[in-house]
Formats: sequence, structure tokens, C-alpha cells
Amino acid sequence: MNAGNWSSRAINRLTDNGALSKKIKKNIYGKLQTIKVIFPSGFADVALDTINHILNNLWLPQTSHSEITLIGNEIYIRNIHMFSVIELLLRSQCLTDIRLVIFQGKTFNKFAFEKKCQSMPWDYYLNKSMALKIKVTSIASNAFHETALKKILTEIISPYTLEVASADELNETTCLYADLYKNKLTLSISLAGEALYKKGYRGILSASAPLREDAAAACIIKALQFGKQNNINYVPETVLIPFSGTGTFAFEFLQNYFNVSPALFQRQYVIEKMPLFRAENFNYLLKKAIKNCLLPNVEHADRTPEVLCIDNSKNANHACTNNIENFNHLLEMSKLYCIKPKLLDVDFFAMDFSAIEFALEHDVFIMLNPPYGLRLNKNANTDQLYHNIAKKILELSTITKSKILGFILCPTESAWSVFIKILKHAKTQTYHFNQGGMDIRVCQFYI
Ligand SMILES: C[S@@+](CC[C@H](N)C(=O)[O-])C[C@H]1O[C@@H](n2cnc3c(N)ncnc32)[C@H](O)[C@@H]1O
Repeated sequence: MNAGNWSSRAINRLTDNGALSKKIKKNIYGKLQTIKVIFPSGFADVALDTINHILNNLWLPQTSHSEITLIGNEIYIRNIHMFSVIELLLRSQCLTDIRLVIFQGKTFNKFAFEKKCQSMPWDYYLNKSMALKIKVTSIASNAFHETALKKILTEIISPYTLEVASADELNETTCLYADLYKNKLTLSISLAGEALYKKGYRGILSASAPLREDAAAACIIKALQFGKQNNINYVPETVLIPFSGTGTFAFEFLQNYFNVSPALFQRQYVIEKMPLFRAENFNYLLKKAIKNCLLPNVEHADRTPEVLCIDNSKNANHACTNNIENFNHLLEMSKLYCIKPKLLDVDFFAMDFSAIEFALEHDVFIMLNPPYGLRLNKNANTDQLYHNIAKKILELSTITKSKILGFILCPTESAWSVFIKILKHAKTQTYHFNQGGMDIRVCQFYI
């Protein structure tokens, strides 16, 4: 069949909505699916824990047992019901993308690729309101060239979409992936559209080099696990965030603590535009997200954490204040009211801990993403900065009666080593992750 015939057949299928609904019911909701989960690099363990936690505690339970496999930098979940896929999409704090696998199998040459792509039921996934980007990767294969494959795929799916956007355009609603490894083809489509870490509460303050929300959430999950390993009764009650910048750690902490599903921030997921979307199921999960969120009980809780952001930059504090407003405004739209982080406009190194408003009698959680020179491209003395921070944490440990759990992002081996030497009496654990191409060591400590 040539591309011309295929186009007219595609349009016929698009008009046949009743039949299409039946097919979607049978093939998408009536069969178990496979998805690919993308997570921030270096956080496979946290992503796997999160997925297992959600699938073992589903709001809409599935009877099947999903098979979860880590392959390189991706997690494959097979035998998963579409309702559970949507639950993962709406609930996970630290995942980057969820892609529905449309096809996986052998494809021996360009013609077989074309035939396979032509036989796909694109009308389940695409419609004329969606602009699409196509990404093709071909690894270890002589038979497949990325540019030629992209051209074939573009021609086949164009009749189903508003447009296929070019690589440098930013107007796509979602992305279709064709990944070839030797002769194995995987076709998948993002159900998130815009990356899941764009949760919607954050404005832009590029100079502060903020962490991506998914990576910040993963750091927090890991640190709280480390806290529990050291002391099963550890609860973060006083939360200190020096160098808080735009406040990412504060917001990610609050979401974690109060079990706020990212879906409650009113962001759009591209699945809402897809023909396979079922609003009833989606709205049911949104209601469950509100029910399972702990914020409505804040007023009745004995104690809620005090969150203190510390930054001496007017610009950063202005951006943080805007983000606090956005964060609360978005929650209010779901009729949820959140505690507000407090902002302290002081130099962290000059800070008098004994004078801070709230008691230091409660367990402390401290999160540090310092303004290290390397990342901001200045010739600052990073080792000295890490030396001073460690000394300040020791000072805090002499003032507070309780335990201190924390983590610090270190840009170099030597900054990490300076820091860990000063905290030699603390229990520590280090792991690595990748932020914008930089290898970051994260030192977790418990004092
Ligand atoms: C790397 S940024 C932190 C980014 C932050 N995690 C975020 O998500 O936006 C460092 C921040 O430290 C602040 N800062 C630098 N020196 C400081 C000091 N001595 N005391 C308090 N804040 C400081 C800067 O104003 C900047 O906002």
C-alpha cells in the first residue's frame, strides 16, 4: 500500500468514532499494556521504589501482576492495566516521563519498518489537535538510518495529527519514539507530553540554577529513607533549606510529606487529548488524589513541619515568594490549603540558630544545594565553601537537642571530601547523580 492510499484510509477510520471506541475498549483497556518509564539519571532505585509503592497500593486495584524490569536508564513495566498506567502518571513525584509502548518486535529492513508503521492503529493515540515530535534512534544497525526512518514515519502519521514539528520547534504536544536496537523496534509515545518534572508551580530564575523537580524529589525520598535506616522514629519536623533559591526543595518536601499528587497542580497531561482518553476514570483518580492528600488534616494535626528557606538574594526570595503563591493557589483550586514555607533573607554563615523562631527541639531535616562556583561558572573557592557549610552544621548540632538528617550536593570529589572530614562523627552515605551533564555527589548525613 502506498502512502497516498494509507492517508485516505486513515481519514475514514478517524470519522468512525463508535467503532474506534469499541476497538480502544478492547485493545487498550481490555488488554494489558507495556510502558517505558524515564527517571532522572542516577535515581533508578528511587524510581523502582516509587513504582512498586504505587502499584502495591493502587487506588484502582488491578488483578494482574506487573513485571518491572530496569534496562539501562529506563524501566519497562509489562502486564499493566491502562488504569494503573494513568495512576502512575498522576501520582509519582520523581518520574520524568511515562511512554506507552505501541509496538515492540523484530523489523529487518526499511520496508518492513514502513509496513509495520503503516499497520499501527495511530487513531487510538493521535488526533488533529495534537502536534507531534518524532525521535528516532538507531543503534548497532546498518539497515536503519535515523533520517530516512523519520521521514517514513512522518509521512505515515501526518494525516492523523495537526503537524509533525521539526526538531528545533517547541510547539509539540507530545513525542513519538522509534527506537531501533539491531533489528528490534520499539515504538512508544509519551503520555505526559510536557515532562513530568514541570509540575507547574515554579517560575523561572535561571541564574539560581535550580534543580529539576524530579531530581529534588528523588534526593528527598532517598534522604528520608536514610533517616529511617538510622532511626525508625525519625520524623522531619524542623526543615531548614539554606541557599533555597526558588524553593524547589521546600515544595518537593511538602508534596512528599503531605502526599500531594502532582496531578493536583492542575497541569495537563497529553493523554487527556488522546482518543484513548477516558475522562471518567481520570476524574475518579483525581478525586482519589484529593482524598489521599493529607493537607485537609493539617489544622487538626498535633504538629506540622516548620519549613524555613534561607537565602540572601532579593531576586531569589522574590522568585521563591511567587512560587509559594503559585503553589498555594494551585492547591486552593483543588480546595486544599497548604502550610507556607517561611523565608529568611539572611546570610546563612552569619545566621544565629538559637534566635530562629521555632524550637530546635524537634528533629531537623536540612537540604543543601550550595552556590558552588563550578556550576555558576565563577572562580569561587568551592572547598572553602564546603568547609564553612560543614562547620555551620556542626554549630547547629551543638544547639539542637534533636537529631539532624540532611544531604548536600557536592560538585567535586574534593568539596565532598572536605565536607565529610569535618562531619567525621556523623553517619554518612554518598551516591551520585547527573545534573545537566555534571556528576554530582550527594552526601547524606545523620548526626
Ligand atoms: C545553587 S542556588 C540554589 C538553587 C536552589 N536549590 C533552587 O532550586 O533554586 C544557590 C542559592 O544560594 C543563595 N546564596 C548564596 N550565598 C548565600 C549565603 N551566604 N546565604 C544564603 N544564601 C546564599 C543564592 O542567592 C542562590 O539563590
